[in-house]
Amino acid sequence: MATFAPPPGTADIFEEEARDWRFLESVARETFTRYGYGELRTPVFEYTEVFQKGLGDETEVVQKEMYTFTDRGGRSLTLRPEGTAGVMRALSNTDVMNGVEQRVFYLGPMFRGERPAAGRRRQFHQIGVENVGRCAPLLDAECIAMLANFLRGVGLDGFTIDVNTRGAIADRAPAVEKLRDYFASHINDMCDDCRARLERNVWRILDCKQEKCRAIVADAPDYLASFGEASRLYFDEVRRALDRLKVPYQVNRNLVRGLDYYVHTVFEVTHPALGAQTAISGGGRYELYLPGEKRPVPGVGFAAGVERLLLCREAAGIKASGDFGAKAFLIGLGAEARLANLELAETLRNAGVKVELELEERSFKAQLRSANRSGAPLAVVRGESEMEKHIAIVKNMADGSQTEVPDLELANFIKQASLK
Ligand code: HAM
Repeated sequence: MATFAPPPGTADIFEEEARDWRFLESVARETFTRYGYGELRTPVFEYTEVFQKGLGDETEVVQKEMYTFTDRGGRSLTLRPEGTAGVMRALSNTDVMNGVEQRVFYLGPMFRGERPAAGRRRQFHQIGVENVGRCAPLLDAECIAMLANFLRGVGLDGFTIDVNTRGAIADRAPAVEKLRDYFASHINDMCDDCRARLERNVWRILDCKQEKCRAIVADAPDYLASFGEASRLYFDEVRRALDRLKVPYQVNRNLVRGLDYYVHTVFEVTHPALGAQTAISGGGRYELYLPGEKRPVPGVGFAAGVERLLLCREAAGIKASGDFGAKAFLIGLGAEARLANLELAETLRNAGVKVELELEERSFKAQLRSANRSGAPLAVVRGESEMEKHIAIVKNMADGSQTEVPDLELANFIKQASLK
């Protein structure tokens, strides 16, 4: 048989796996709804400037990883590499600008042209939330607590939440200067990327993965003291609230996050199954410019990678639980019985019973084989004489015992049997 693999970094999700996806999604809906969030479905592609402006031209995602194409009218479009910018574009049509708080969550595919690896895909899926329109430390803490709740809800524990502050734009200049001075004095020992980052985005040096840069970062000065008082107090308040909510976290001075829209609180979650370098979720507080607006809109949110959450669940040996199999397999002998079984299947399904059957002409033996393969505990057999008597022979697949059951009682019989 010819095999056609999907493009690198993408995957087909078959039913058995899809069950775990649905479970994750249902926990997300249920958890976020309790916090007053409603679902928002935005397009999977947007005008390219939504991401350029939203995420910032300097962001690696924008520079290297976007799937961008031109539509027939000559407009540049991009498959969404993340959810926040599109959500903000959608909310620009609401009254967030007037300080009305919006709480939205989203689920769906995102696209980044990254080198595929375990837990790194080109089409991946995020479950995310955005709380838009307001700015307060307690909102950030509530958001982190909700994330922890969600992760526990999908069966994960042992995860680590790192938090840090990027400070407010208005009072972080001295901190930037302090870092720039320090790294400038070590520039000759740093990687090429960090040399470029020194002028363009000094924060990103803090999370460089290169060994030689990490050694220099380890001795970097504590920049928090150089933030203005407002930024420091903001971060204190976030931590106080997290302590009060008993959300376990650790402060990580080198956590800066890959996207440039962040201010104040940033956070990232890792899990031992994937190691400290691979985040299962990340987020923070941000300020984003909506199209045509001169003032940025504040928000706080996070996104978790579905594939990564599933890898962690797999490592912990967790599978979606539930009753997914067929309860009965209908076997018909002859054309009339086949047609009658199609009708019976409809009746049983409408009564809430999951049944399977063979609709193509097949021998009794072949149908029995299909019944075995289906895993259904019962086979319901009908030929001409059973139909005349309005009964069926119900065969217990495990022990071979047979019972005559009137057609009208079949639904109940199958339901009762599956409760045993
Ligand atoms: P992000 O850190 O770029 O943040 O992505 C969030 C999560 O998406 C990551 O922690 C990871 O689990 C997953 N993820 C990212 N890239 C990939 C990939 N190539 N393959 C598999 N999983 C991946 C954001 O996207 C922000 N929009 C989060 C946010 C919302 N910040 C504020 N609000």
